[in-house]
Amino acid sequence: MMNFNGQENDEERVLGRLRQPGDAEEKALRPVTFEEYSGQTKVKTNLKIFIDAAKKRGEALDHVLLYGPPGLGKTTLAGIIASEMGVAMHITTGPSIEKAGDLAALLTNLNENEVLFIDEIHRLNKSVEEVLYPAMEDYCLDLMIGKGPAARSVRLDLPHFTLVGATTRAGMLSAPLRDRFGMIHRLELYETEDLMDILKRDAALLGIAINEEGLRNIASRSRGTPRIAIRLLKRMRDFASYLEKDTIDKEVSDFGLKALDIDELGLDNIDRRLLVSIADIFKGGPVGLETLAACTGEDPVTIEDVYEPFLLQNGFLHKTPRGRMLTLRAFEHLGMNPPPSFVAGMKNNETVPPRYENISIEDWQNSNQDSEDGENG
Ligand SMILES: Nc1ncnc2c1ncn2[C@@H]1O[C@H](COP(=O)(O)OP(=O)(O)OP(=O)(O)O)[C@@H](O)[C@H]1O
Ligand SMILES: [Mg+2]
Repeated sequence: MMNFNGQENDEERVLGRLRQPGDAEEKALRPVTFEEYSGQTKVKTNLKIFIDAAKKRGEALDHVLLYGPPGLGKTTLAGIIASEMGVAMHITTGPSIEKAGDLAALLTNLNENEVLFIDEIHRLNKSVEEVLYPAMEDYCLDLMIGKGPAARSVRLDLPHFTLVGATTRAGMLSAPLRDRFGMIHRLELYETEDLMDILKRDAALLGIAINEEGLRNIASRSRGTPRIAIRLLKRMRDFASYLEKDTIDKEVSDFGLKALDIDELGLDNIDRRLLVSIADIFKGGPVGLETLAACTGEDPVTIEDVYEPFLLQNGFLHKTPRGRMLTLRAFEHLGMNPPPSFVAGMKNNETVPPRYENISIEDWQNSNQDSEDGENG
């Protein structure tokens, strides 16, 4: 599928956060210990304390929910939790558990203290979710045997296990499910320094030569996301060979990033064109999501989930009750002058919403709900 500016869709976008076929090497690069997992200090510190305590008591770790944008290391962290606990991890995804019986089968196959990882846990269906409640709370299953008047319910004991759930949309999780997690951890976007550490380790594992400037250049344009950083690293290796250089240095990375149209703030031409259309067609906004989608020929969900979060996080765009608006920073970055109507409108709209990475789970849920209610142009 081509999008509004004639580019391939996000599945092939270098700066896309979602997993792509070319990311297959990720698996081999996944750290298995806390020491190898860079950044996310707060989450790591907490998890270490709880894992140590659970191990000392010889008990299963409390259920953990990990949430945050794609590519920040949720699956990786789930694996580390299991390996630090010294137990096996069973992996499944929300949408693949179709019936209550599928979940029952998974749960009865667990051994004491093992980890069940459910990715995309916000996509569990209701009937499956209801089986999960007593399993999480009391480690038991309530099964119905027989049909009609002869039906009776039996209670089955389960081993003590740890459920690790991962989601990119915490706001879509039902309250009863969320409340049954003993720990809820939000993964943050990574600092440049942390991404440099990740890249250094991965470059060594992949046998790629890169110097400090090359590391910094890639890390600072990776949108705080290890998955993107790793993808860029592999692309830069190709540019190095094209330029017949054996190390990714400043020259190679500058050349490569320019060739990929990634600017010094980590925006690519999809981002820039979205901003330019708001600036040109809507005089900087506000514009409702539906209207913006109609005018750019894009799907509103794609705009909201894929294009927009980075622009919101970095203060190029903000949401107002009347729709999306560009910020002065965006006009500045595009080298455009904001129209007088926009400058006048700014004065009535001083409130800048909290940055996406700084909000609590409740705020996030509310903001997701707002946007799901829809705004009209
Ligand atoms: N903190 C980290 N330290 C080192 N490498 C990391 C870290 N976080 C992520 N990575 C690397 O980035 C890759 C992508 O991470 P991962 O698959 O865990 O993300 P995710 O949050 O599960 O994404 P998705 O939402 O798409 O499932 C991993 O394979 C790993 O190589
Ligand atoms: Mg994952």
